[in-house]
Amino acid sequence: MKRSFKDADFDRLAAFWNACSPEKYWIDGEQLRLNTVDSPVFDWGASCIEEADGEILGFVSIKKSARSLYPGPDKDVAHLSCIAYCEAQYGLDLLTEVKSILHNRGCSKLQFGQDSRHFFPGCPTDYPALHNFLMVEGFSEGGECVDLERNLLDYKNPAPIPDGDEFRALTENDIPALSDFFDREFPYRWKYDTMTKVSIEGPSCVFALFHGDRIDGFALVQDFTNKAPIGGAVWHVSMASTWGALGAIGVAKDLRGKGSGNALLGSALEYLRDRGVEQCIIDWTGLVDFYGKHGFVPTRKYTSMSLQLDP
Ligand SMILES: CC(C)(COP(=O)(O)OP(=O)(O)OC[C@H]1O[C@@H](n2cnc3c(N)ncnc32)[C@H](O)[C@@H]1OP(=O)(O)O)[C@@H](O)C(=O)NCCC(=O)NCCS
Repeated sequence: MKRSFKDADFDRLAAFWNACSPEKYWIDGEQLRLNTVDSPVFDWGASCIEEADGEILGFVSIKKSARSLYPGPDKDVAHLSCIAYCEAQYGLDLLTEVKSILHNRGCSKLQFGQDSRHFFPGCPTDYPALHNFLMVEGFSEGGECVDLERNLLDYKNPAPIPDGDEFRALTENDIPALSDFFDREFPYRWKYDTMTKVSIEGPSCVFALFHGDRIDGFALVQDFTNKAPIGGAVWHVSMASTWGALGAIGVAKDLRGKGSGNALLGSALEYLRDRGVEQCIIDWTGLVDFYGKHGFVPTRKYTSMSLQLDP
């Protein structure tokens, strides 16, 4: 019997997910709640839980396009945020129903992951059961990206600080400058995600490059005290209890290539280290050399996967 996510027991659903998934992708009930029903683009009509006699047999979470949150995304692209099932047949049934609902709504594409408040930037390459399932369902493969990690216990910033650059965490007074920076440089998803995160965790979750009062670069920094982990921090269950995360990170276009990004990264990592972070994750990136110079190594690799829905 299919039921909606209304009043779902997220701890039970997370335990079910963990029983089906490699340990690197384990989650807790609160993370599942945050990334499903707590998201403004959670698709209540297409997501469901399959149960029989009170036993969970599978569940699927679909997200709508983030077009209602910020400009850019295609309104006709939906996202398969996650799917878990005890037997493949339940997974196939769940997805058949999802495809039919989305098709009837005129959606053109179903993207695996990459949703607003995502778990997955793509299908993990070390999760063959999920990869095979998506291939059988007709998904096509695209580019690859990685998450990287290192322990910050003995981290020291190797990057010189360019003249005039100042680095520090934000305070309440810096919020208007942050908003101006995003409008100038990253007005879409990074603005939305970071400003939402600031509203939940407070301004010190942003570490920035300042020139006087002006912000010219930012890094989102998360640690084990956060209420609503996002990005790579969704995998905190499989990390040390003193986990942390960095990213997104970006500097103003006209400053790039002059050492400020490197110094921003190094200063932000020292800030996380001083807050007690040990295992730190940087997610959804192709810049392996940029982060590698700070000792980060890839720990997860993902392949972008999407399904064209028939017109
Ligand atoms: C990535 C970014 C923050 C780097 O900042 P920056 O000020 O340009 O970088 P730096 O000048 O300090 O360069 C640091 C090193 O990283 C390398 N690097 C910088 N950007 C790179 C890129 N996009 N690809 C590969 N290497 C890069 C530089 O060549 C340099 O190497 P070197 O020390 O051997 O010369 C900046 O380019 C940016 O904001 N890009 C757009 C947003 C983005 O892509 N963020 C990362 C998402 S994961």
